[in-house]
Amino acid sequence: MRLNPLLGQLPSYPTVVLDRKKAELIAQGKPVFDFGTGDPTEPTPDFIRARVGANIPGNCRYPTVVGDRSVRVAFAAWASRRFGIELDPDRQVLPSSGSKEVVFHLPLLVIDPKADDRTVVFPDPGYSVYYRGTVFAGGEAVAQRLDGDFVQRPWTLPRDLLRRTRLLWINSPHNPTGAVMSRDDLRRTWEVCREYDILLASDECYADTWFDTPPPSILEVAQEGVVAVFSLSKRSGMTGYRTGMIAGDPRVIAALRDLRANPGLAPQDFVNAAATTAWSDDAHAEERRAIFAAKRAVLVEFLQHAGLEIVASEASFYLWVRVPEGHDGQSYAERLLTHGIVVNPGSAFAITDAGRDYIRLALVPDVETCREACRVWERL
Ligand SMILES: Cc1ncc(COP(=O)(O)O)c(C=O)c1O
Repeated sequence: MRLNPLLGQLPSYPTVVLDRKKAELIAQGKPVFDFGTGDPTEPTPDFIRARVGANIPGNCRYPTVVGDRSVRVAFAAWASRRFGIELDPDRQVLPSSGSKEVVFHLPLLVIDPKADDRTVVFPDPGYSVYYRGTVFAGGEAVAQRLDGDFVQRPWTLPRDLLRRTRLLWINSPHNPTGAVMSRDDLRRTWEVCREYDILLASDECYADTWFDTPPPSILEVAQEGVVAVFSLSKRSGMTGYRTGMIAGDPRVIAALRDLRANPGLAPQDFVNAAATTAWSDDAHAEERRAIFAAKRAVLVEFLQHAGLEIVASEASFYLWVRVPEGHDGQSYAERLLTHGIVVNPGSAFAITDAGRDYIRLALVPDVETCREACRVWERL
């Protein structure tokens, strides 16, 4: 069987060695402190879980692309509380099966694989699916290398690149660095996209995962030519449900509605019912923020005391840490792993060398385990 050659060409994560060592430690019964996988362990609140079973009908029919209106209304109400914006639930909102599939499929909306202007730009380091979705759609993938404060500034891109760009991804709060774009950054990004007729796609799956100041949304700044992606995965502890939202320019949403009828990407009605409840409640999201903040405080105190530099890390549930002299992220991650501490090397998130000198910690283990991990780390 002849497979799509892309499958063999995708960059594989340099975490293979780490995964093997982690499995060995577990097999030996050694303690493992897993800051690697970005999948929170705090359970989904019971009042959200209860909505799933209660909404599975005997005759469970095909879901529709737009889903029940109540989930779109609940999301629009959240957006109004959270960002002070008005979204039309009928023309500006669509439910999705998590945000990952949207990131993967969005290039299909604007990329003509035969055209010269078929570039998709995305942050690097960054979530690997921006790249993967682009190449599967036949687009030209261009990684915008981030450095310093790791804030993406698309208006600095070369003019000839912008001219052939059809889709630009931004991600604030940003995975893996936790960097946040200001309203001014967002406005300048939108202006440049309007000038070059680029669809501006804003991945805001960490919009409700912040510590000091709630990060702004692109939708507060502008909606024309804009689509933003949201998720309940981290906000409500629902990674396994696969539930997210797409919102923005009504013309883009209408086109997406047509596109998304093709592969059958609609979330199940009972998942939408649970999502309606989740978007309608802010208290549980606040409780989860407090839990992540407590873990973060323990780690930040230790890392600072140990003289390790924490860069960006304003929001999301990651810490982006520069490794000590004499190491790169990979070698430092391997060293930590010999003591049972699992972190990701920054290079795992980058196509360029942008993440080389960093590691990423996901705020996954509970507070007590974070403390224990710090004691072990300190002995290094
Ligand atoms: C930046 C970013 N975008 C999108 C996703 C996908 O999230 P989900 O599909 O769970 O909504 C993730 C998951 O870690 C992410 O880090």
